[in-house]
Amino acid sequence: MSQRTLVLLKPDAVRRGLIGEIIGRIERKAGWQITALELRELDQDTLEQHYGEHQGKPFYEPLVAFMSSGPVVALVVEGERVIEGVRALAGPTDPIAAAPGSIRGDYGTIVRENLIHASDSEESAARELKIFFPGR
Ligand code: TYD
Ligand code: MG
Repeated sequence: MSQRTLVLLKPDAVRRGLIGEIIGRIERKAGWQITALELRELDQDTLEQHYGEHQGKPFYEPLVAFMSSGPVVALVVEGERVIEGVRALAGPTDPIAAAPGSIRGDYGTIVRENLIHASDSEESAARELKIFFPGR
């Protein structure tokens, strides 16, 4: 089942020079295609829309501050079961709990600075793709 997902390489990944490493892992999966890619800074309005489900939680304000601390790379990735697949490549939210071999497990220690966002369902993907790549 071919799907589309939104991926963000977070400001920590960009600052640490991990763009190529992370995109490489996505690119090497058989049959997946990157169909849009942009380096950009996120404004408050975009972050409110994107992380609206977390508004009011204790980590929300520091999360938004972190996500606007530098540019991110936004990508659209298409292919077979890509929504579940990129989440599997990323690993669980807490990098210490993430297995070595996953992106978060290999490079992260801090929950907030966990390198990568990937849509978690078809509904989230549709919603997030509209925010980041309207009209695509
Ligand atoms: P969430 O959607 O739960 O995780 P995921 O990115 O794996 O879908 O949370 C969004 C982001 O918020 C998460 O990537 C990192 C940050 N966050 C914290 O800083 N502290 C927390 O306790 C949680 C749950 C998330
Ligand atoms: Mg999430």
